Amino acid sequence: MPRIANLYFKTAIIFLIAGISIGLHMSISGNHAPTGAHAHANLLGWVTMALFGVYHALNPRKAEKRLAVIQYVVYTFGVAVLIPSLYLMLSGNTAMEPIVAISSLIAFAGVLMFAVIIFSGSEAAVPAGVSRAR
Ligand code: HEM
Repeated sequence: MPRIANLYFKTAIIFLIAGISIGLHMSISGNHAPTGAHAHANLLGWVTMALFGVYHALNPRKAEKRLAVIQYVVYTFGVAVLIPSLYLMLSGNTAMEPIVAISSLIAFAGVLMFAVIIFSGSEAAVPAGVSRAR
């Protein structure tokens, strides 16, 4: 598996652990105010990052490009700042609003960069050991 795909899966599982921890905390405390942070940790973190990892695993040549690394850094940084700042904002800390806004835009920039990766060139995925020609 390409290094960037492996990195995305490792990062994704950390966000799933964080997302479920927030979910369990909300369930136990009965305070559902941070639902948005829980949902975004699970969906922008676990689900989206795992999908990015799958795409890179299926397209190993694209995964080797510098853009793949830059996209990983930008997207992961955006989400990693967004989740705790959103959690604090939804818990009543309104000073977090600008940080939530900026980190959302950074995460979105990471998504746009992934769109560039998807649309750049076409690469048929050929799993190891499978012959392309007959
Ligand atoms: C043990 C695991 C989990 C627990 C204990 C948990 C707990 C919760 C709780 C307490 C809420 C708030 C519900 C409300 O206030 O109406 C919630 C909302 C939500 N959860 Fe989870 N959750 C878990 C896993 C997940 C996972 C894996 C995902 C996504 C992949 C997810 C996505 C969502 C979403 C999108 C919402 C918002 C739903 C809405 O506002 O209508 N949760 N969860």
